[in-house]
Amino acid sequence: MTTQPQPPAAGPGPDPGLFTWEFAADPYPAYAWLREHAPVYRTRLPSGVEAWLVTRYADARQALADQRLSKNPVHHDEPAHAKGRTGIPGERKAELMTHLLNIDPPDHTRLRRLVSKAFTPRRVAEFAPRVQELTDRLIDGFAGRGRADLIHDFAFPLPIYAICDMLGVPREDQDDFRDWAAMMIRHGRGPRGGVARSVKKMRGYLADLIHRKRQALPVTPDPGEDLISGLIRAFDHGEHLTENEAAAMAFILLFAGFETTVNLIGNGTYALLTHPAQRARLQASLARHERDLLATGVEELLRYDGPVELATWRFATRPVTIGGQHIAPGDPVLVVLAAADRDPERFADPDALDLSRRDNQHLGYGHGIHYCLGAPLARLEGQTALATLLTRLPDLRLAADPADLRWRGGLIMRGLRTLPVEFTPQPDTGH
Ligand code: HEM
Repeated sequence: MTTQPQPPAAGPGPDPGLFTWEFAADPYPAYAWLREHAPVYRTRLPSGVEAWLVTRYADARQALADQRLSKNPVHHDEPAHAKGRTGIPGERKAELMTHLLNIDPPDHTRLRRLVSKAFTPRRVAEFAPRVQELTDRLIDGFAGRGRADLIHDFAFPLPIYAICDMLGVPREDQDDFRDWAAMMIRHGRGPRGGVARSVKKMRGYLADLIHRKRQALPVTPDPGEDLISGLIRAFDHGEHLTENEAAAMAFILLFAGFETTVNLIGNGTYALLTHPAQRARLQASLARHERDLLATGVEELLRYDGPVELATWRFATRPVTIGGQHIAPGDPVLVVLAAADRDPERFADPDALDLSRRDNQHLGYGHGIHYCLGAPLARLEGQTALATLLTRLPDLRLAADPADLRWRGGLIMRGLRTLPVEFTPQPDTGH
């Protein structure tokens, strides 16, 4: 490893200041330092793996679109000391891991085209009343209490029920999904046993559901058909989707669409509650039934403190140069979306939250061929959740000192463990 300047804050480990508790609470000063002094920085991750962190916007965009950087973990030149415990998904080549985020063209092109046919913007738009109903029902659950933990009571259940509905998981099974997903989030970096069991249960359930839906599939497509049925139909029409790929697809939709949206609602609400002037502007515009500030505002919240801190793993398949730094084949590359989205070379006054920001091509949903497939659904959920919260609970306020809030200490995602709030109790709307 070449000698490099070190980030300023002191802390344990080979990279002082990175991956500590303080860093998890506010990683932005360390990212600002990296962007300026070591924009493509080789670091040792807590798992022991060495990887390159890319922090400047221009480099990040280039890396996300560079097809010499593979998504397939077979290209990882895994060091012997880290074997089997790197936390790189798909490393163990589990069946559910052959999904969009772990594959390259031509398989990626084929699978993405196929799922895009089932996951259309029209289908998402038709889903808006259901997302509104879910949102209201969840708020009804705590509105009379005057206090809530917005992660547990709201941000967490909303996306899992929404994506289950969209996939076509029957209502009576959705609580099982919620519990498996909870286990995967809560213990994602903890005890392996619980996660493995949850993944196994989810895999068994999805295989069985796909089988049952195939038996019951009507000959002519129903316009309101669920996503899993749409995938099976494509499979039955010879589009070369194996049953395992269908299960992996359902799994990645659940997985990619879950913790991300929890964090959009959690981080977004937190940012609004700690920026009273911006929040007041949004509330006033919602009271006038305007949607413009809500739309630009949710994009700004994604840029300012987005759910995906680092894009998922990439591995160099050939020698690549990023930001003047040579990267050898087999090396992992992690694009730090949270750092790129605060780059002053790209965004004016990047550390300020400005809900009406216009020139805002942020990387919160990624870029290139792996650009978030679920972005329209995420926008729908984020906008509905924030608008309904602020309208129904107009005096919503934090019930904790921001310094006491704990952030999940994961590598890829950024989100709060809890978000205690209080407000004047509201009557039930009967949803
Ligand atoms: C990919 C962010 C919600 C499904 C991605 C990527 C990002 C991202 C950054 C690219 C990762 C990379 O290149 O390494 C987000 C954020 C969300 C969100 C911030 C919420 C605010 C959703 C939802 C779904 C979804 C609701 C689906 C239900 C996917 C899928 C991919 C993806 C399937 C892989 C696409 C591919 O590889 O072609 N997302 N996502 N996401 N997202 Fe999202």
